[in-house]
Amino acid sequence: MNSIHTHDLHTDPSQFPGVDVYAVVGNPIAHSKSPAIHQRFAKQSKQVMHYGRLQVELGGFAQAAKTFFGAGGKGLNVTVPFKLDAQSFADVLSPRAELAGAVNTLYLHNGKVCGDNTDGAGLVRDILAQGVRIKGARVLLLGAGGAARGVIGPLLEQLPQQLVIANRSNAKAQELVALFTEKAQAHHVGIASCDLLALEDSAMTPQAFDLVINATAAGLGDESPLTKVAAARVFVPSSFAYEMVYGKTTAFMQQALHQGARVSDGLGMLVEQAADAFLIWRGPDVSIDPRAVLLELRR
Ligand code: ATR
Repeated sequence: MNSIHTHDLHTDPSQFPGVDVYAVVGNPIAHSKSPAIHQRFAKQSKQVMHYGRLQVELGGFAQAAKTFFGAGGKGLNVTVPFKLDAQSFADVLSPRAELAGAVNTLYLHNGKVCGDNTDGAGLVRDILAQGVRIKGARVLLLGAGGAARGVIGPLLEQLPQQLVIANRSNAKAQELVALFTEKAQAHHVGIASCDLLALEDSAMTPQAFDLVINATAAGLGDESPLTKVAAARVFVPSSFAYEMVYGKTTAFMQQALHQGARVSDGLGMLVEQAADAFLIWRGPDVSIDPRAVLLELRR
């Protein structure tokens, strides 16, 4: 039996006749803010739709997604730990999803399941909305996992002067540099990698960075990827420190504040990536205001 049982964490499209049904899939998913965000977008743009949650067991993504779309579901947002499963599940990938190596948005088009990735665009829009210039900036990206990979393409398209990718294990940062060298060259952006400890070294950090983005999982615990010495080298008061984790002032943000830098958590990125997914699903002419939704969520 492939039917989805209706309970709090499961959204069954067949339970909503005449209504377009969407959901966010993840594990865990109970505390996801995505339903609250999308319900606000639907209200702003007067769209008749339902957006729920889908908790899926590890290894169960493809079956759950197949069942959801089979029951008439229109689209899914995909979060940890299923973004790679979603990429495999999609029949067609957007170029940016292919480059990101992950999918966070699924939808149907001409009977095919299409996979896109709006995370990088969401990050860039949130940074720009906060008045920070990426063009010509020296950018440091911390981390080399899926979260980091997903945002490199859209960052390069903003034409920073330089992008340094620093990771605990340098090999993974080097792999990302190799993957993005061609794109960086096409945009005339200098790209380099190093390990986190090399950030203590003045040869690697002759100057501080304008923008430092924490895409490591360190923020989920109580750690920062930066040592005290490295933090004193990479931040100056004119720096902007962006933490992808939201809902708390992480150790990374505290280090930046200590150096007098401006900081942001990742709630705006969450709202902006959701906005792009909403427009993919409901059409580009639909009018929504992600910054108003962000303000409401911060209240
Ligand atoms: P995600 O998809 O969230 O990026 P991931 O692919 O598991 O998850 O990657 C986690 C990233 O956080 C990696 O860059 C990892 O560094 P390694 O590649 O060296 O493992 C980084 N990371 C996790 N915990 C960290 C910590 N305590 N300090 C520094 N980096 C950390």
